[in-house]
Amino acid sequence: MTTPVFDRLAALAEPIRVRLLRVLQHEELAVGEIARVLQTSQPTVSRHLKQLDAGEWVLRRRVGTATYYRLARGELPPDARSLWELVLAEVEAGANDPASQYAEDLRRLAGVVAARSADSEELFRRLGGRWDSVRTELFGDNFVLATLMALLPEGLRIADLGCGTGALLPVLAQGSASVVGVDREAAMLEVAASRTAELTNVTVAAGRLDQLPLGSGSIDLALCQLVLHHVRDLGPVFAEVARVLTPGGRLVILDMVEHDREEYRETMGHQHLGFSADTVRALADASGLALRSWRPLPADPQAQGPGLFVAVARR
Ligand SMILES: C[S@@+](CC[C@H](N)C(=O)[O-])C[C@H]1O[C@@H](n2cnc3c(N)ncnc32)[C@H](O)[C@@H]1O
Repeated sequence: MTTPVFDRLAALAEPIRVRLLRVLQHEELAVGEIARVLQTSQPTVSRHLKQLDAGEWVLRRRVGTATYYRLARGELPPDARSLWELVLAEVEAGANDPASQYAEDLRRLAGVVAARSADSEELFRRLGGRWDSVRTELFGDNFVLATLMALLPEGLRIADLGCGTGALLPVLAQGSASVVGVDREAAMLEVAASRTAELTNVTVAAGRLDQLPLGSGSIDLALCQLVLHHVRDLGPVFAEVARVLTPGGRLVILDMVEHDREEYRETMGHQHLGFSADTVRALADASGLALRSWRPLPADPQAQGPGLFVAVARR
């Protein structure tokens, strides 16, 4: 039976594995990169890595479809670390000779690292359409909203009308002067308030869309997302929005395009089966707002509900 120290000695018994660990101490590398540094084949590198991995000498990190390796230096057990430092000291003494293999390894390592920017072009060429799933795997999808918020002018005063549980409030809060979420349902506002409790520029207010608890001309950007189809008489709502918007302020509406799902009246209390551009334009005109755009959104393959549109009206 072997003791761990003999296993560790066996791992370091092959010069190529010592060279491999030494370059991985300098830099985290993929198998192909290691093969180029050590001037050997990828299967050879993989075979040695497998043994080093089994002995917990290396740490692995997956990035999309690639795997990167580095020496587990800080995580090595004390006996393995002492052994490694002993062997490394010998190797570094030999590396002082510029003609030695060890010195060459580090020169090729520098070349491989320098070539990485060119390699990233190759990576994106290879990934092509699969980049979307790699990006989601690495970073999720939430950051997209933060990017888009950063495109808006800073310091806006925003009102999310019919904010519901306030899912949008933390996003809207980024870069804006103030955000107020208005809803008539206390249960909804409670959730909205607790999810924004830490955000100093967000408040929530109980109120109806046709009697907004907001001062005249106090809002730069009003948002009605998936709420207008719940309100039977929309004239007073548009009038209220026009009142609270500052001159030049905008109303953004996100709602359903016209559809024929009559059952929504019963099951979800919808008062309107979607809206046409003409309906929204007429409501805007009647309240002193000008409809600037009305765009149906591309269908989302995951979504089962009717299609959506986004409209912008300006005071
Ligand atoms: C379908 S939810 C949408 C919530 C949120 N905007 C979103 O996109 O997730 C509609 C919300 O509008 C609120 N609501 C409906 N009619 C309203 C009215 N007349 N005044 C104020 N809030 C209203 C409801 O209480 C509900 O929270």
